[in-house]
Amino acid sequence: MKARIVTLPGDGIGPEVTAAAVAVLNAVAAHYEHAFAVEEHPIGGIAIDTTGEPLPATTLAACQSADAVLLGAVGGPKWSDPAAKVRPEQGLLALRAALGVYANLRPLSVHPALAALSPLKDEKLKDVDVLFVRELTGGAYFGTKTRSADAATDECRYTVAEIERVARRAFALARGRRKHVTSVDKANVLETSRLWRATVMRVAADYPDVTLEHQLVDSMAMLLLTQPARYDVVVTENLFGDILTDEAAALAGSLGLLPSASLGEGNCGLYEPIHGSAPDIAGQGLANPLGAILSAALLLRHSLGLEGEAQAVEAAVAQVVEHGPRTRDLGGTAGTDAVLQAVLTALEDHATTRRAFFS
Ligand code: NAD
Ligand code: IPM
Ligand code: MN
Repeated sequence: MKARIVTLPGDGIGPEVTAAAVAVLNAVAAHYEHAFAVEEHPIGGIAIDTTGEPLPATTLAACQSADAVLLGAVGGPKWSDPAAKVRPEQGLLALRAALGVYANLRPLSVHPALAALSPLKDEKLKDVDVLFVRELTGGAYFGTKTRSADAATDECRYTVAEIERVARRAFALARGRRKHVTSVDKANVLETSRLWRATVMRVAADYPDVTLEHQLVDSMAMLLLTQPARYDVVVTENLFGDILTDEAAALAGSLGLLPSASLGEGNCGLYEPIHGSAPDIAGQGLANPLGAILSAALLLRHSLGLEGEAQAVEAAVAQVVEHGPRTRDLGGTAGTDAVLQAVLTALEDHATTRRAFFS
């Protein structure tokens, strides 16, 4: 198939992990006879430096006409002055809003070979398989902000329609899994959470085959550590989802492993690892590229409908996680490129075996 993929490497380790993910996409194209046209555009701090804006109009237009968008990370100390007028992160938020990608899927599983890296005991990590569905275009991230000399506000606003569409997405996804949805809110305190809970309960009536439970976010933060295997699909608002998924990443062994897919109504999705620009290791070739590579697998699955190819990439990554080489965050000594080369070799083996099988 033919596809146009826009890449937005961004800042810090963003370009390092994006280059690895693009190399994997190019290998998939070569092995499975697809034609992917990959086009790179600036976003974030690098875009501020070169154009003055974190999301230049040309970048946005390219994303809006692409089949899929793959992003590295944005931000870093250079642009983090609290008094700064414009910030890299604004570019990412504006892009998510403009693409209408309201459902951010963040899958979490724990590879047995990495269980020792998790702060939890092995037996707690057995069978952990959670799909977080984070609402991505509403809440405190997008409400009105005010700032005076001695006070500041961030309005947290949700409409019924915003809650309903992400809840439907979560229930539909649960149908293809273990049919259990956990909705996380703070309905004992927040009005937005009370609307959230009432709306999710109403949506649940259309999915009688899926069970629904509610958890308050503070207790959910604890339950994720004490009983992670209990959860199937976890749906929550923007800010809670941001925090809980970084916590969840610790169970997998490293923040550098978790991918994400941000989806709206159309096929064009935004794919990014959940980690940031990691300024502490940027430019040293040390970044773990697997979260970005797994995001490319999600791109193949959700935007291009290439399930077999997505599974081949995931299998190649699993093989490298198991046998190495591993980056430092996973207890190894390898750099980004060595891990990428191992993924490419595993992918090639997979494609060769498949060709032999079908010939
Ligand atoms: P971070 O995710 O960048 O880093 C947290 C820690 O995890 C660091 O120690 C880092 O070295 C490590 N880490 C992250 N990704 C890794 C990888 N692939 N391989 C190995 N180690 C990895 O979070 P932070 O330091 O709080 O934020 C830095 C900047 O990134 C901030 O400007 C923030 O706004 C931005 N950020 C951007 C995104 C995004 O673009 N989607 C996401 C999160 C944070
Ligand atoms: C993420 C990041 C972003 C978020 C920031 C960089 C705006 O932390 O993708 O998880 O909070 O959504
Ligand atoms: Mn985050």
